[in-house]
Amino acid sequence: MSQAFAHEEVVVRRGRRSGLPLIVAIHSRTLGPAVGGCRLRRYDTWQDGLADALRLSEAMTYKAAVAGLDFGGGKSVIALEKGTELTAERRQLALEDLGELIASFDGSYRTGPDIGTGPQDMVVLKRFSPYAYCTPEEHGGTGNSGVPTATGVLAALRAGARHVFGDASCAGRTVVISGFGSVGGGVAAGLAAEGAHVVVSDVDHSRKDAALERGYGWVEPEEALSVPADILVPAAVGGVLNGETVPRLTAPLVVGPANNQLSDESVADALAERGIVWVPDYVASAGGIVYVLSRESEHYDHEAAHKRVLGIGDTVSQVLDVARSTGVTPLRAARQMAERRLASGGGGDATAS
Ligand SMILES: NC(=O)c1ccc[n+]([C@@H]2O[C@H](COP(=O)([O-])OP(=O)(O)OC[C@H]3O[C@@H](n4cnc5c(N)ncnc54)[C@H](O)[C@@H]3O)[C@@H](O)[C@H]2O)c1
Repeated sequence: MSQAFAHEEVVVRRGRRSGLPLIVAIHSRTLGPAVGGCRLRRYDTWQDGLADALRLSEAMTYKAAVAGLDFGGGKSVIALEKGTELTAERRQLALEDLGELIASFDGSYRTGPDIGTGPQDMVVLKRFSPYAYCTPEEHGGTGNSGVPTATGVLAALRAGARHVFGDASCAGRTVVISGFGSVGGGVAAGLAAEGAHVVVSDVDHSRKDAALERGYGWVEPEEALSVPADILVPAAVGGVLNGETVPRLTAPLVVGPANNQLSDESVADALAERGIVWVPDYVASAGGIVYVLSRESEHYDHEAAHKRVLGIGDTVSQVLDVARSTGVTPLRAARQMAERRLASGGGGDATAS
């Protein structure tokens, strides 16, 4: 089924050096320059990469709007079609191609790492345009955004716990974290320090020893969503909350950084019907972008940027309060907050009514 074109601008180009399909999707620049990471991954077809860019850039618009940032939503994708061979040399050429394309936006699209790219790749992009964030510190950037993202998730989690359990502290609560990577690892450490019973899960079995060494429990990925828990933290892949998994959930609170957790928006209703409070992913996962843009674009110092990340807790409280008092899902409440800010053209507080 075709959908109405909702984006401001979409560029699809064959990289002149690499020959690979490059996509930049700009969903909205209503609040300011579009931001969104650069994804390099395999797709069955380049059109699947385009669909990913369209969907992810739209989510970035709402993420930035709810977080109170004066930025819009964008995303770039280097699509590796089935059968494409990616040598180190071709990967480098593809990054150079993308750097050239990003430079052509003259700051109205800005990027950072996403799946398949990292801080070192941003150094390549930065040779073409200053608008590549998160380069390693020695190159003037803030590096891996996993740490501030985890800080934001912890703030969201405490706000959610206050809403559901009447107490923000997670001491003594069982928290299952699905995905023991950069963000999941940071969330686990923060919760363990607070006295929570942390159980982690990862498809990468080599992570198990690291988890056990830190005193965490371990659960196999297929059981992670259904073992008894007070809080579930999706910190791996998208689509984990769907018609098959929602009936199996045991935790009354679900909050985590994984992007696009719901297989479709109706899942938000299914969660609410089961009495499960779900904190919208784009609200909970904004710590990285809030920190990076505060530091690298708005020139806040670390303390001020960190404080701004902690503000995600207040945003979550307001989303959940509005949802409860008006009888809508948290997804709907967050969307209304974002739409209000977009309609006003920005500047003000997303949460003001
Ligand atoms: N890093 C950030 O700043 C940031 C910001 C916003 C959102 N996110 C999102 O948060 C999630 C985690 O990001 P990250 O940076 O920690 O990634 P990461 O790659 O460091 O970690 C993800 C972990 O999940 C594991 N995994 C993959 N599939 C799994 C599955 N089905 N079940 C269990 N584990 C599985 C991987 O093996 C890996 O260890 C991603 O969805 C990412 O898009 C990250």
